[in-house]
Amino acid sequence: MSKEESEGATTTAAAPPKPAPAKPAAAPARGKPPAMPRRSFFSWMTVAWAAFTASMLATLTATGRFMFPNVLFEPPPTFKAGYPNEIQIGQVDERFKQRFAVWLVRSAFDQYANAEGIYALSTVCTHLGCTPNWLEAEQKFKCPCHGSGYYKTGVNFEGPTPRPLERYAISLADDGQILVDKSRKFQQEKGEWSNPAAFLKL
Ligand code: FES
Repeated sequence: MSKEESEGATTTAAAPPKPAPAKPAAAPARGKPPAMPRRSFFSWMTVAWAAFTASMLATLTATGRFMFPNVLFEPPPTFKAGYPNEIQIGQVDERFKQRFAVWLVRSAFDQYANAEGIYALSTVCTHLGCTPNWLEAEQKFKCPCHGSGYYKTGVNFEGPTPRPLERYAISLADDGQILVDKSRKFQQEKGEWSNPAAFLKL
């Protein structure tokens, strides 16, 4: 072997080894679903809790509406209205207008009861149901809606209303106070104002 051949053989033997080929990726195991990432798991839990909370709130709201339905609370039809001597003769007492829709009027002489006493007038206009105002200077009830007018007795005399105001049952309670019963009403055009229950004689 020549010197050159000997050197060539030495060079070939010293060449670096070739890199090993990359291993193929491991195939997923058969029959086993891939594991869910932690973040995805927590976001699903959040959605589930939100849905559960919303359904519970809806159930609670429905229960609350069942327990406390939308009821219109109206004042009772019967109420005490103080003592007779708190109202002066000739006075239209407006203390109970707003809450009970009633005027108390003390008359020196009522032609329907043929006596002195107190009657309870409805504040509902008999035309279309507005609330008239008591005009002290003019001594009349005047409806602001279409102009109907009523005397202090409740009898109509002007405007479109076809009939007088209504009176309610009135009496004295055991404690001496005036007792008004709005569940019983009396109409002048039917001759009902002469009913003893429609007037408190004093
Ligand atoms: Fe009173 Fe019409 S409602 S005059």
